[in-house]
Amino acid sequence: MSTPLSAVVDVDVPGPTISRHLYGHFAEHLGRCVYEGFWVGEDSEIPHVDGIRADVVEALRKLQIPNLRWPGGCFADEYHWMDGIGPREQRPRMVNTHWGDVVENNHFGTHEFMRLCELLDTEPYISANVGSGTVRETSEWVEYLTRGDDAPMSALRSQHGRSDPWKVTFFGIGNEPWGCGGNMTAEQYVAVARQHATYARNHGDNQLYRVAAGASDGDYAWTETLMRHVTTGLGDTEPSDIYQGISFHYYTIAGTWADKGHATEFTRNEHWTTIRKAHQVRELLAGHSAVMDAYDPTRKLGLVLDEWGTWWNVEDGTNPGFLYQQNTMRDALVAAVHFEAFHDYAERLRLANIAQTVNVLQAMMLTEGAQLILTPSYHVFEMSTGHHDAQRLDVRWRSDTARTREVDGEQVATVCVTASTKENRLTLTAANLDPDTAQTVELHLRGAPLTGLTGRILVGDDVTAHNTAETPDAVTPTAYDGASLHSGPYGTVLTLRLPAASYVSLTAELDPTPEVSSTR
Ligand code: AHR
Repeated sequence: MSTPLSAVVDVDVPGPTISRHLYGHFAEHLGRCVYEGFWVGEDSEIPHVDGIRADVVEALRKLQIPNLRWPGGCFADEYHWMDGIGPREQRPRMVNTHWGDVVENNHFGTHEFMRLCELLDTEPYISANVGSGTVRETSEWVEYLTRGDDAPMSALRSQHGRSDPWKVTFFGIGNEPWGCGGNMTAEQYVAVARQHATYARNHGDNQLYRVAAGASDGDYAWTETLMRHVTTGLGDTEPSDIYQGISFHYYTIAGTWADKGHATEFTRNEHWTTIRKAHQVRELLAGHSAVMDAYDPTRKLGLVLDEWGTWWNVEDGTNPGFLYQQNTMRDALVAAVHFEAFHDYAERLRLANIAQTVNVLQAMMLTEGAQLILTPSYHVFEMSTGHHDAQRLDVRWRSDTARTREVDGEQVATVCVTASTKENRLTLTAANLDPDTAQTVELHLRGAPLTGLTGRILVGDDVTAHNTAETPDAVTPTAYDGASLHSGPYGTVLTLRLPAASYVSLTAELDPTPEVSSTR
């Protein structure tokens, strides 16, 4: 056991709101995510609601997922939404050229997706086809989704069984236009995006939050180009009426794009390199925010990280285009690193989406026939719901170097702690990123006494631990007994014993500060 790390948290000084939308998800027509993962069809023997897997919905509802991005990813830029409406057997087929070159039957389309969102009680985040679609398609899709009168697209929607418009806020203007979304330069994209965004109208009281497709990793020049061209409204009291958010994508890999590393069999060095690369998200959030600050100092526009997560070599024997991978405690710790960074950039970051929800990349869940396996990543999302729409509490480390170690020549934090408060309820989550050494953290909680402290812990036999069909609960949350409270010179001292490669979630009630009576 190493010496305790020490931090101060002023629980009566709430910071910015951590939007629940930082805990968003992503479902693409890719491999077994939409088909098999969500959609089994109305004739399936797997229990379903209107063709949508009931067990997946039930499990995802526990995550309180705030938004779901669809239909891609790269798939979005070859998707023609009108092919996905009307009687299923009559829908045209297409080739999913990006993902396995398989034939897509369009059975899961707009109505099925919006029904899924209703079942999940989540908001849709729809990505338009800018790479190979037309401005008219974008315009009509928005009309179809959100317009309420007898306009042509509203009438078509009614004809297909839905008379009321849906509410859609988040609307992506393409995806990765620098690559699979059209191989455009930033200047080319900006021109096209402004056209699509213009004709993606607000109908009635539906207000879109349009997200311009942004950079890969640290391509700050791309963000700069987007910011330079989103002048309308900036500097006035109204937000931009072209696009309201700018995205970027960042994936964590241990190796190279050619050999990303194995999902479950990895060395300690590969573990630490993964953690180092996960921490890079913080540098990227800082870099993109700084570019945006120069044009938009009052933060009218949002930064959107609408694809993040781990990306490993596909599981042996699976279709390389399906991006199926297992998911260990290491993946859960990568998520913890991201959550802490997201909270710290909550003033600028408005939306984030892990890739992807079922059976693809850093999935929340894996399916094998009728069986559903929850991954360690699922559990850290579930254990973090207390942070949704709560106000961040800053965690100030007393000796920052003590919680770092050198990895590949860089200093990398070995512990993450983040805290928030909502209606006098404290949520505190902590991760020990070290796969071999337990760590003790002392948190000096100043400003209000705590009552009713409870906690859960996620930890496996090893950082490589993961859940399978045979051992679905190898990594599952249990009650946490590693916390103790005592009085310190400045308030309550909460001591946490964190086993190697673990994630802990704690909640407590904060006693409101007693009123000071007036002596006058
Ligand atoms: O999430 C998988 C793919 O990664 C997405 O389709 C694409 O946007 C990104 O390159």
